[in-house]
Amino acid sequence: MQRILVENLTPGQKVARTIYNSEGNVLISAGMKLEKSYINRLQSLGIESIYIVPAEIPLVDVPDPISDETRMEAVKTVREIIKKIKGEAAINSKKVQNMVSDIIDEILLDENKIVHLNDIRSYSDYIFHHSVNVAVLSLLIAMDFSYNREELRKLGLGALLHDVGMTFLDQELGEKDKLSREEHSSFKEHTVYGYQTIKEIPGVHIISAHVAYQHHEKLDGTGYPRGLKKEDIVEPAQLVAVANVYDALTSDGNALERLKPQQALKILTALGGHKLSFKYVEALTKHIAKYPVGSLVILNSGETALVLEVDKENLSSPVVKVLKDKAGNRLAGQELIDLRESEGLYIKELLD
Ligand SMILES: [Fe+2]
Repeated sequence: MQRILVENLTPGQKVARTIYNSEGNVLISAGMKLEKSYINRLQSLGIESIYIVPAEIPLVDVPDPISDETRMEAVKTVREIIKKIKGEAAINSKKVQNMVSDIIDEILLDENKIVHLNDIRSYSDYIFHHSVNVAVLSLLIAMDFSYNREELRKLGLGALLHDVGMTFLDQELGEKDKLSREEHSSFKEHTVYGYQTIKEIPGVHIISAHVAYQHHEKLDGTGYPRGLKKEDIVEPAQLVAVANVYDALTSDGNALERLKPQQALKILTALGGHKLSFKYVEALTKHIAKYPVGSLVILNSGETALVLEVDKENLSSPVVKVLKDKAGNRLAGQELIDLRESEGLYIKELLD
């Protein structure tokens, strides 16, 4: 599958992944063929890119760390919270806590959770999807450390609400590519507003509020709002900072140009140690598919294959099915190949 800019879509192309809006409604289902009217609709909604299945390639079900239902419920919950904050209404603490618990339950179901695709989001829905994704990524990272259930809940809640302070800013501040000095210092305040908001929610642990307060701090003291250094930044905030940067780099809908997962991981690795905590970058890397399910790869034999299954312990050696021979001729009925067991055969390149 390929991620394609909406402006480059053509009628007849097949959608690889269901697209939802932030109210949880399906805009286009996986497997549907695009029509001109759908493309126009995507454009008018401010969706920048979607996943499509290249012609003649079978549609495969791509696993996600949490189900579409849970993801959309979580997106709706964040949307509701932000609405309440805007209206100065009380936040339903139980509902948020239960939502975080549901996400944790799904993530804990299986140790082999890997992120294959990024979600599709429009500019106007960015913050809701970003919040949920940062929570999911943070919990995936935490799986590699000894967090107990209670700690996962505090972390997950802080991650889910880390950017709620954005509600208090002028909307355009979050969308502009270049901020003036003054605008930038107002933007930084979202961390403080977030802290103040979260610490007032009944039943929420103060550490979750500190995650929002400290998620832009950097180990070397160059972050904001307080320029804290490594030893003064709480561990959950160091962890969420990694998930936050990764999501911002790999998604549409913010001021940054979307990067491919492996490019983003390279940047994170370069920041690891002095800006971001290296151990959390390393842990995240283990949960991001190098060759996502549904993608096409070139093997060292010259054949083109489709990735069908990935094992977290062997990210470079998935189970594949050869679709084309060296000369590019289509092959039918090929056996599955488990690259963990096929000596001498390996992936040379990811096609996109
Ligand atoms: Fe932020």
